[in-house]
Amino acid sequence: MSPQLFNARFGRLIGAGLLACSLAAVTAGCSKSEAPAEKPSAEQIPESATEYKPENLEKEAPMADKAAPESGVDYHSFANTNDYLVKHVDFDLTADFDNKVLSGQAILDLKVLNSKNKPLVLDTRDLDIKAVRAGIGSDLKPVKFSLGKVDPHLGTPLKINLPKGANKVAIEYQTSPGASGVQWLEPQQTAGKKHPFLFTQAQAIHARSFIPLQDSPKARVTYKATIHTPKDLRAVMSANNDPDAEMDGVFEFEMPQAIPSYLIAIGIGNLDFKPMGERTGVYAEPELLEAAAKEFEDTESMLEATEENFGPYRWDRYDLLILPPSFPFGGMENPRLSFITPTVIAGDKSLVALIAHELAHSWSGNLVTNASWRDLWLNEGFTTYLTNRIMQFVYGDDRYKMEMALGYDDLKADLDDREDKDEIMAIDLRGRDPDEVFSNIPYEKGSLFLYELEQKVGRENFDKFLLDYFNHFAFQSITTEDFVKYLNNTLVKQYPDKVDAERINQWIFEPGIPEGAPHPQSDAFTKLDPIRQQWLNGESKASDIDTSGWTFHQWKYFLDGMPEKLSEEQLKELDETFKLTQSKNNEIAFSWLMIAVRNDYEPANARLEDFLVSIGRNKFLRPLYRNLVENGKTDEAKRIFEKAKPGYHPLTVKVNSKIIYGD
Ligand code: BES
Ligand code: ZN
Repeated sequence: MSPQLFNARFGRLIGAGLLACSLAAVTAGCSKSEAPAEKPSAEQIPESATEYKPENLEKEAPMADKAAPESGVDYHSFANTNDYLVKHVDFDLTADFDNKVLSGQAILDLKVLNSKNKPLVLDTRDLDIKAVRAGIGSDLKPVKFSLGKVDPHLGTPLKINLPKGANKVAIEYQTSPGASGVQWLEPQQTAGKKHPFLFTQAQAIHARSFIPLQDSPKARVTYKATIHTPKDLRAVMSANNDPDAEMDGVFEFEMPQAIPSYLIAIGIGNLDFKPMGERTGVYAEPELLEAAAKEFEDTESMLEATEENFGPYRWDRYDLLILPPSFPFGGMENPRLSFITPTVIAGDKSLVALIAHELAHSWSGNLVTNASWRDLWLNEGFTTYLTNRIMQFVYGDDRYKMEMALGYDDLKADLDDREDKDEIMAIDLRGRDPDEVFSNIPYEKGSLFLYELEQKVGRENFDKFLLDYFNHFAFQSITTEDFVKYLNNTLVKQYPDKVDAERINQWIFEPGIPEGAPHPQSDAFTKLDPIRQQWLNGESKASDIDTSGWTFHQWKYFLDGMPEKLSEEQLKELDETFKLTQSKNNEIAFSWLMIAVRNDYEPANARLEDFLVSIGRNKFLRPLYRNLVENGKTDEAKRIFEKAKPGYHPLTVKVNSKIIYGD
């Protein structure tokens, strides 16, 4: 993407009163700097300024005073991407499991966009910056740098004064043990219980907690990395993994395709590899490897089907990394190596839509990327739409309809729950932490919008549109407005009677679902409604219900459709008949625990506690903790949370403590 397209405007200087911090000050609190507001000119920079000197920083104005967010402006990055673009990162990091730090250096290749020799501003969060060198080519000299005020959502800008013409910067640094994008796991938290584990999770704005860089999805980089590990562990990355790499504690990687920073990822653990197909395989702890490879054996078929319909898979291999259960998401689409929660290994492939989803991101998200977090729906909405399509290709119409219908119900539930402003796909995130705003809206509303377009123009024509879209914007980061413009030049022009600009705007820029939107349904579900109702009316017993052929999806639909309140007898009857408290399927267990919490069903308490302590996936934890709090069980929520906290990921701690403690 050409940088001009973003038209990012950097507003007023926020100079006076900025707080200046070193890493020591990050923990101790920052000191207010008395320095003048102007930025230092290049001439003021001493030749060899190695020592740290706090000073004020020029910062992108948050523009909170503007009525609407400006398209293409990334309000979640300090980086001055209009002056410089980092094109390549070369990093060398050592994982110190005893001290829970990554330390080493990152060398950034710069493209200079502005000849005024401005300081380079990078994103960091809780990094201890030890030294910075800069220069041209390999001639790098120490330069002056400073860390700005800590922003609770965004981290800390790192300002580096560059010698004239500099196109390379080398930063020596160390992460903090509490880095928001890194989880260090004790052996006890792994499947094998013998070795520690480390994984990173950079999306949305956590890459800055383990690499100082332009942490904005509009800046794309290639990378090379050397990762030093304890000798018995293997490192893998979102890059060219080699299952035959020597286990000598040094792993080399290369990602030759330009990716946004949120897709840089590292995993380290006692990992083995098993191929699933020609281009697909699984990395997992040996204890999980066989089960994972079996559960996800259809990955190769998913890959082939997606390619056939939406264009070539451009990333060489597609492997999965199975993480310990504390992983805060279901999956993360790190290129060439999706990171996956082990909680979807259900034994019956019932939850493999997650794999289809992360794979689909290889087109929607990794190839065509949202330019800012306001545009997240371009990643997640397209991906959710593609997920459903992949599930249909591989598993047929019934599965497709059920997946779609469950997605629609999720959307409805979220719409009931949210303020109007948060129902808008192109959401205004200024001043907000993207982690706090996470919802189904960009996923399911985005997908429903694309489904409506498909219905209007016909599937064949819509598939052609998608294929062209992926080719047109391949390896670029685009805004909602870029997409709308593209749509206006394609489908709106080609099918003026069927697709109109006004309705498109309504979908993207207004809350709710436009009237007349499609309502995906499944016969396999609707036939359960009278069965559930009869039981609720006392006209049948649970044991009369023939559940023998029910799929996981039907169980979920059956349970999620239960009324707010059930009697003690009803709960007992359901549980005794269907063994719900003992369910091994985590999605079913979750749906049941939601019912149990809101009805104070005591026999499920032990399972609830075990579930909350052993699983870190926020899709489950947030609703359960919220449910506990809303049902007057805040003390119980606190007790379980405090017990589980040492094993939770930093993100899990952050978003759930907000629910429980309200801070
Ligand atoms: N990219 C997302 C996870 C994400 C989104 C992390 C936004 C941080 C910020 C990933 O692809 C995802 O959507 N995961 C879902 C999968 C589900 C919808 C099938 C999850 O983890 O639940
Ligand atoms: Zn996704």
